[in-house]
Amino acid sequence: MSARVLVVGYGVVGKRVADAIQAQSDMRLAGIVDVVPSALVGIALERRYPVFAATAEAAEKMTKGGLRVEGDFDAALRAADLVVDTSPEGVTAKNLPAYERAKKPFIINGGEKHSVTGFSFSSFANYTRALGKTGTRVVSCNTTSLCRMMIALRTVGAIDDAFVSVVRRGADPVRTSSGPINAIEPVLGGFSHHAPDVNTVIPELKIASLAVKVSSTLSHVHMLRLQFHKAIDRDAIVEALNATPRIVLVSGAKGLVSNAHVLELHRDRLRPRGDMWEVGVWEDSILVDDRTAVLTYCVHMEAVAVPENVDAVRAMLRLDADPATAIAATDKALGMFQPNANYRSLGHG
Ligand SMILES: NC(=O)c1ccc[n+]([C@@H]2O[C@H](COP(=O)([O-])OP(=O)(O)OC[C@H]3O[C@@H](n4cnc5c(N)ncnc54)[C@H](O)[C@@H]3O)[C@@H](O)[C@H]2O)c1
Repeated sequence: MSARVLVVGYGVVGKRVADAIQAQSDMRLAGIVDVVPSALVGIALERRYPVFAATAEAAEKMTKGGLRVEGDFDAALRAADLVVDTSPEGVTAKNLPAYERAKKPFIINGGEKHSVTGFSFSSFANYTRALGKTGTRVVSCNTTSLCRMMIALRTVGAIDDAFVSVVRRGADPVRTSSGPINAIEPVLGGFSHHAPDVNTVIPELKIASLAVKVSSTLSHVHMLRLQFHKAIDRDAIVEALNATPRIVLVSGAKGLVSNAHVLELHRDRLRPRGDMWEVGVWEDSILVDDRTAVLTYCVHMEAVAVPENVDAVRAMLRLDADPATAIAATDKALGMFQPNANYRSLGHG
């Protein structure tokens, strides 16, 4: 019997996680929970997903707004084996007592602090440590991409030091009241939180980060500089990235000269919502000088952590104890399986 997964919060991340869960053969969507009578939540009904209301007040509003509500939060929890909470920052914490009362394992997302679950998840780094866990935090879009990159690049050689400049999109496309509209906003006070967040998953890595927010909604872009312990070869970097699932090499020389072009490619590939679940590394950004390597990649923030949410479900419910087959199953179901990539080495950290 397939595992029943409830998604709480049908927003930017939740709707994508819901579709990804429904696409797997060993799990199915038990339903979604939300609070607003929005046409965007109504899409869940078009997809025949059961819709639950988080509160009695929300149920009234949603019903008045024309949404067919299946039941309340308790009913939603009864219908599920596990909850993926993708509600906004600040709301998730209030939901946790309900999950604990109902004895349902839960996943929280990147906006929440590591201390909430004491375990931060990135499939490539620590899939096996998530087996049977009752609470897991899937790290943010920036951290998910950084963890994938570090796990891939560590196969080239030991990394002494990593530094990343994070260029963050100003807001998701749907967040029309956020900005900046015409400015670049730096993180003040020194280093940004991104590197310490990577250390919640890969504690031994020496890494620091700076960040700015720019007037763009398409994706983040990271500029990464690595200092390896020994001199390395550029071809080894290319090979390592090619051998890693969920990382794709793109090329400015082939016309993909910006994040807009990279995302357009994924729209043209008819990805759902134009989503790019992979990290897109510009092959022509990779430069190696003795022990130092630099490279630049783009991260579709709305989509990148969706496969990791699916993997986390599989690990926590012990649907598959082997990270290689579990991660590959997610990728096959989403249509992003990379036959030449090495799934074998991942997830045992
Ligand atoms: N947006 C991104 O790019 C992105 C990327 C990675 C991780 N995340 C993380 O994912 C989580 C969700 O972010 P998001 O961007 O999808 O948020 P969102 O605001 O787009 O979606 C949240 C949804 O939750 C609903 N909601 C509000 N209160 C609720 C309640 N009490 N019960 C149930 N639903 C409720 C909202 O109506 C909305 O539909 C956050 O932790 C965020 O940090 C976001």
